Amino acid sequence: MPRIAYVNGRYVRHADAVVHVEDRGYQLADGVYEVCEIAKGFIVDEKGHLDRLGRSLSELRMAWPLERQALELIMREVIRRNHVHNGMVYLQVTRGVSPRDHAFPTKPVRPALVVTAKRMDPRAAAKKADKGMAVITVPENRWERVDIKTIGLLPNVLARQAAVDAGAQEAWFVDPDGTVKEGASTNAWIVTNDGSLVTRPADFGILRGITRATVLKVAAELGLKVEERRFSVEEAQTAREAFVTSATSLVTPVVSIDGKAVANGHPGSIARSLREAFFAIAEKSPTC
Ligand code: PDD
Repeated sequence: MPRIAYVNGRYVRHADAVVHVEDRGYQLADGVYEVCEIAKGFIVDEKGHLDRLGRSLSELRMAWPLERQALELIMREVIRRNHVHNGMVYLQVTRGVSPRDHAFPTKPVRPALVVTAKRMDPRAAAKKADKGMAVITVPENRWERVDIKTIGLLPNVLARQAAVDAGAQEAWFVDPDGTVKEGASTNAWIVTNDGSLVTRPADFGILRGITRATVLKVAAELGLKVEERRFSVEEAQTAREAFVTSATSLVTPVVSIDGKAVANGHPGSIARSLREAFFAIAEKSPTC
């Protein structure tokens, strides 16, 4: 059964899905995206992801490619055609197709829309979470508007590759003051020795993760104390636990940072309980 993608009004075989060479996303990274988890036949936190898509679009003065309800239907159609029960759906909106010029097109063009979906084995993710991940740190070198979820991800790509080259799975961006921002594609958290969760405030320095927001609700439900404040690499290395959150990793423990074991070098119990309680608290919309 072939994979199917949605590209600018058409459902096409994934292998044949292409965009124009003058798509501004392709040439200038002039676009935004979202990734939603699909779990047990539900889209997880769809509203939060689509609200954030709307915010990213408006920050870049881009229009919705079509009405939000129509986009919701297309997401479901792509999920249905690819028989995704567990996995993810990816949405990408670019400013459209126009002769290459850095300034916005003078003639109005329709934003371009691509939607893909992929099946993923939840057991593989669970296995990763059971093992925990190794993280390295890299200097922050991104622009200051990382609160906008743009497809311009070159620093994130290089940071993740640096992690892979070092035998790790994620890289945390660190400010010149030594505080942790977030991962290449995840938000960063620690648990202090007295059991408080700490994560950086979601101001303009990080992406306001949708999973992060749900984990804050899960933490409240579990009666955990939360501090939204900066933390240093050293504090993370000597913390009781560390973990990351994202739509694709949910809550995944971090077991080492720059080669230094976090606590005993094994996933911690608080990260595990947040992961276990996550699905019950997250907003779930049926895929059909
Ligand atoms: N990444 N920070 C960055 C830089 C991210 O790219 C992401 C998500 C997050 C977590 O956000 P959320 O909880 O809303 O997924 C934080 C997606 C999964 C990706 O690029 O594949």
